[in-house]
Amino acid sequence: MSKSHAKAAVALSAALLLAMPANVAASRSNRALPPSPQRGLAFVQQHCASCHGVTANSRSPNPESPPFEDVANKPGLTVVTLRQFLSDSHNYPAAMNFTVDHARIRDIAAYMLTLRKPNYRPQP
Ligand code: HEC
Repeated sequence: MSKSHAKAAVALSAALLLAMPANVAASRSNRALPPSPQRGLAFVQQHCASCHGVTANSRSPNPESPPFEDVANKPGLTVVTLRQFLSDSHNYPAAMNFTVDHARIRDIAAYMLTLRKPNYRPQP
């Protein structure tokens, strides 16, 4: 191999190495994305709003389902306890008989936490 060929080969393999992490990240797709309250809101409006009030100051269509604002403002609730609840489908009441995938749960929890307020009082 001539000197210039060797140089080109080194440059090429360096370029391949640099290109690799980007490919790996792309193949992990959604999971690598940070949680998004916007995606969470879009999802709960589609899948939860038939029972729960999902936005601030909204009442639940199904009176047995607490508005998400009440849920989000429960004392002691954190992103961890909320994700835990949403992950464990056995905790769901029978009426909520479905599972939600992990990336969605992070979005939903991120959205619900935007409803937290200091001095929140549940609606009468
Ligand atoms: C078919 C009606 C229905 C749908 C749809 C529904 N829920 Fe519920 N959900 C309920 C009911 C009823 C309760 C209250 C159960 C209880 O208090 O035992 C509840 C409770 C909850 C709680 C717990 C509240 C607490 O007090 O800790 C959370 C969190 C929750 N739902 C999230 C969701 C999410 C997120 C979705 C959409 C992905 C959803 N729910 C869709 C009926 C529903």
